[in-house]
Amino acid sequence: MKEQPTSAPSKDKKKWQIGSYEDRVQRFYGWGVENYGDYHGGYLNFGLWDDGNTNYLVAAEHLISTLATRIGLNKKSKLLDVACGLAAQDVFMATKFGCQIDAIDVTWKHVSLGRARVDNAELAAAVRVHHGSATKLPFANHTFTHVMGIEGPAHFDTREDFFREAYRVLKPGGTMGLSDYILARKPKGLLDRIFLEAACFLWHAPKENRDTIPEYEQKLLRTGFTNVRVDAVGERVIPGYYFENKRPETRRALPKIRGWFATYGGAVIDYVMYKVFRLGVIEYILVTAEKPKSKNK
Ligand SMILES: C[S@@+](CC[C@H](N)C(=O)[O-])C[C@H]1O[C@@H](n2cnc3c(N)ncnc32)[C@H](O)[C@@H]1O
Repeated sequence: MKEQPTSAPSKDKKKWQIGSYEDRVQRFYGWGVENYGDYHGGYLNFGLWDDGNTNYLVAAEHLISTLATRIGLNKKSKLLDVACGLAAQDVFMATKFGCQIDAIDVTWKHVSLGRARVDNAELAAAVRVHHGSATKLPFANHTFTHVMGIEGPAHFDTREDFFREAYRVLKPGGTMGLSDYILARKPKGLLDRIFLEAACFLWHAPKENRDTIPEYEQKLLRTGFTNVRVDAVGERVIPGYYFENKRPETRRALPKIRGWFATYGGAVIDYVMYKVFRLGVIEYILVTAEKPKSKNK
């Protein structure tokens, strides 16, 4: 990939308030990311592990394709991709579906590396990568036919604020597709609570985002969305990613990329996420929701 100094000043680089979720998330994801190169194809998602597949890239792209197909992405779509990470998914979607994409992420290093990835793929005419927050989108009302967010919304402060922003920037009749983490049920005993607190703390997820599926659906409906569909698919996602990260090849590659500290920190996070899923406390969901055609809000 073309070299691009990730610390280069840029007129559109935002300064997040120290201690805010934006600031904490940016530091969390920024650790060692300049060494990623093409590791895992630049994807940061957990993947959708179907049909006995054990290849990470196949699982990562299967997750993106599944969501993109559910929301009906095509060459006429104007997509806002929220929490785009390293923009690998935008290169993939612009190529596969031929859509126009504005992508946004809170982590400056992701934006910088994402722009280089888009340039290298010669897709600058189709994909623009912005630095900003999902809860304060720098776009006019009714700009996009689609909004998508893969594994970002649990970090947003708050997720419900993002729902309002997504609704605002969608055109009437527009569709949103998300993949997200939620509570499978309220925690019952001490063990549940300890693991849930650890998962939210390590994963930088605000307390306000601890919704069960009915609460999640209610927030979408309250925002104005209709045709809300939420599917629990954790069994097809979380174990596959956990075992991918335990493979000897992955264990050898990661310290060279992220250093020992972030590698072992990441292993703890992976274990806590897997454990809290196996305890039946968290779930992974695929979500679609529509903005009604008639509303002009
Ligand atoms: C698990 S990564 C997923 C990235 C990408 N969607 C992918 O699957 O490769 C979560 C992403 O959410 C971004 N993020 C977290 N909070 C955000 C916010 N408030 N606004 C925009 N992006 C945010 C992080 O910087 C990170 O890139």
